[in-house]
Amino acid sequence: MTADNAALVAWTARVAQATRKLLPKGGDLAWLLRQSMHTHFQRLAVLPVFGLSRGPVRVLDVGAGTGALCLDLAWMCGPEARITAVDNDAHGLSLLRDLAAALHLAVDARLADAYALPVESASQGPHAEPLPVPAPRTAGGRARRNGPRHRPRRPRRGHGGR
Ligand SMILES: C[S@@+](CC[C@H](N)C(=O)[O-])C[C@H]1O[C@@H](n2cnc3c(N)ncnc32)[C@H](O)[C@@H]1O
Repeated sequence: MTADNAALVAWTARVAQATRKLLPKGGDLAWLLRQSMHTHFQRLAVLPVFGLSRGPVRVLDVGAGTGALCLDLAWMCGPEARITAVDNDAHGLSLLRDLAAALHLAVDARLADAYALPVESASQGPHAEPLPVPAPRTAGGRARRNGPRHRPRRPRRGHGGR
């Protein structure tokens, strides 16, 4: 899916305006709101990588923070999309809800832990926010075949070893 440049520029301006208005409520998350404005074009440039189309898609943004990513997704996928944002920080979620309301976007923002998600587990598709889950290991301590490669280090020898 691509949006023409004029639409992207207009969307970026709307988000920046809504974000600036929200800064006084940002508190210790004001830095994240500011950073999101500065990185907006980079984010828009990579979103098509996820291959989402406009229409009734479902998106789950885990660790959504103030919504930088899921608000763009809601805009790109359109009003038929079902966007769920999960975060365990109530303040971030309240800023997300304010931004979504200011931008007239429907985002279902839920306060929850990423490791006990309040959604059904059969979701599929690209993962926008991979969680830092450790690679599964066999009893011997080696990574499983399909996990990340793991080359055990040689034990260190004393001075003059070898
Ligand atoms: C670096 S921020 C990223 C926010 C947003 N995705 C963005 O790109 O601006 C990481 C977010 O993950 C949330 N987070 C961290 N651990 C979490 C957990 N166990 N469950 C839910 N959210 C979590 C934090 O509250 C924070 O909002």
